[in-house]
Amino acid sequence: MEEERLVNARRQEEDESELSLRPRRLREFIGQARLKENLGIAIEAARARGDALDHVLFYGPPGLGKTTLSLVCANEMDAPIRTTSGPAIERPGDLAAILTNLEKDSILFIDEIHRLNRVVEEILYPAMEDFTLDLIIGKGPSARTMKLPLPPFTLVGATTRAGLLSSPLRDRFGMHFYFEFYTPAELITIVRRSADILNIPIDPDGAEELARRSRGTPRIANRLLRRCRDFAQVRADGVITREVADATMQMLNIDHLGLDDFDRRYLRTIIEKYDGGPVGIETLAAALGEERDTIEDMYEPYLLQLGFLNRTPRGRFATRLAYEHLQIPCAEPGGQQRLL
Ligand SMILES: Nc1ncnc2c1ncn2[C@@H]1O[C@H](COP(=O)(O)OP(=O)(O)OP(=O)(O)O)[C@@H](O)[C@H]1O
Ligand SMILES: [Mg+2]
Repeated sequence: MEEERLVNARRQEEDESELSLRPRRLREFIGQARLKENLGIAIEAARARGDALDHVLFYGPPGLGKTTLSLVCANEMDAPIRTTSGPAIERPGDLAAILTNLEKDSILFIDEIHRLNRVVEEILYPAMEDFTLDLIIGKGPSARTMKLPLPPFTLVGATTRAGLLSSPLRDRFGMHFYFEFYTPAELITIVRRSADILNIPIDPDGAEELARRSRGTPRIANRLLRRCRDFAQVRADGVITREVADATMQMLNIDHLGLDDFDRRYLRTIIEKYDGGPVGIETLAAALGEERDTIEDMYEPYLLQLGFLNRTPRGRFATRLAYEHLQIPCAEPGGQQRLL
């Protein structure tokens, strides 16, 4: 069912065909101001020294631009980029092959880096630290390590779950950047830029309405933009106005904060089945018939950001704001205290 979710921030096939929407340079990249400034300085300094950029870790919820910014790094550094992902590298030998084939000063992008398995990960430690590959020759007591020099390179890692990264790996990144949800103003800029590139007529109110419902996420903004375009074409005169955006969202059951059926079901489950919480994530996942990972990655970050959800060691709570949003009366007067 998750594949059908329109406000799902996870990549879907349709998105891949919209590569044209990806900003290519740092100055085109909208939002994440602090991150962009720090990264910009590091890039400029590395370029001036003629060095490879220090290893970079990007983390944060899906659809906020981690992959995009990795490609931007390569463009700004004028460096070749090799892209792979944690689950794609199964054996240490696979990673060794990638590393030994890297060009000098190039970028190795590992998406979903938290899903690297431990034996593969251990190859990365000396590679990142000293640009060497430690090969183990032979087995048992006579085994010895041979060190093979690697060309200097930059590892760019991306993850939605920095907490799952082992600390030796995390510590080897010179820079850690957290992606925040985008502000409504930034999303408006993103929507207008995308509409411009795709030649979609949209008026300022339409862009504002769309931005407001995009859960702080550019990937969702771009996806909703296409749905509104369809609606405008078939049911209106082709221009995305506030009315068009509003009608499209109503049809999709997306409310004015960007919450969809799943979000509401999630909150209702906590409130109605578990009396507002606390409820453990595993229990909740079972009740909803969803994977725990999916819930933690895709649904919770935005609900936390809205202040609808509290995550504590004892489990999840729905906050008063969630009750209000769903127009469910907060049953017990002590309810608010429990939230603290
Ligand atoms: N700052 C931005 N300005 C304009 N468009 C953006 C920006 N960030 C992301 N986008 C758009 O959103 C889409 C999703 O971004 P991207 O694929 O980089 O996200 P991600 O963080 O790598 O997601 P995931 O965690 O799922 O891999 C991109 O195709 C791009 O068009
Ligand atoms: Mg990505």
